[in-house]
Amino acid sequence: MRRIVTSAKVRSAAQTAAPQAGRTRLIVPAPVGNIGMGRPNDEMELLRSLSAERVMMMGDNPALAEMPERPRLMDFYRLRFGDIQIRHLLQCAKHALDAGQNETVVTACLLHDIANGALIRSDHGYWGAQLVAPYVSEEIAWAVRFHQALRYFPDESVGYRYPESYHRFFGPDYVPPDYIQRDYERARLHRWYMTARLVTLHDLYAFDKPLDFDPAILDDIIARNFKEPEEGLGFDGSPVAHMWRTMIWPNNFL
Ligand SMILES: [Fe+2]
Ligand SMILES: [Fe+2]
Repeated sequence: MRRIVTSAKVRSAAQTAAPQAGRTRLIVPAPVGNIGMGRPNDEMELLRSLSAERVMMMGDNPALAEMPERPRLMDFYRLRFGDIQIRHLLQCAKHALDAGQNETVVTACLLHDIANGALIRSDHGYWGAQLVAPYVSEEIAWAVRFHQALRYFPDESVGYRYPESYHRFFGPDYVPPDYIQRDYERARLHRWYMTARLVTLHDLYAFDKPLDFDPAILDDIIARNFKEPEEGLGFDGSPVAHMWRTMIWPNNFL
């Protein structure tokens, strides 16, 4: 079980990306993860400090696990995502599987918060849907997109209630913005509504619960429902390849 979170092989200094070998490599945090944090913006200072020996990081960061040349879906889970995200996605998929849901729902559960793994949290359903769209059925991508809005609205017909955790996350008087309410209304009338709704039903928060199953039980379902590109995710020339590459090299300056 531990292999899912700890098998990461970290490159030695000698193996680091050749183009910048021997130089100090600086990292400027991505604006989306830095803005509003009250941290001083030292970009100008870093730019002024550049020299032949001091450059902006491009390519493999030795502080991160080495990704295979042709990365597959689960490589991102194992080598880039945090423990919380991996457990949450695997447990959600397993919960759906145990409840007898079909493979479309189980796969949507496995992928639903994929954007939170190593890319971006804000509007994660929309980002996540784009990230997986070229590789899954339209219905799975649709469910990933709309689970975000549906989470805020109960559906007694399947026993889904507004999450208690959202009261803690956002405060008890939080009201989702207009675009979320509009997308919920839109989703409610859609033929795939129940697919996204079932994702919310199995979207359980048990972040501190250890995995009590082997993730390999999902391998066949992934193989049937996620078309791994031959060149590897990030290198297949798809319209979203850059999003996967950003997770491989999150610290690139440009
Ligand atoms: Fe979510
Ligand atoms: Fe979730």
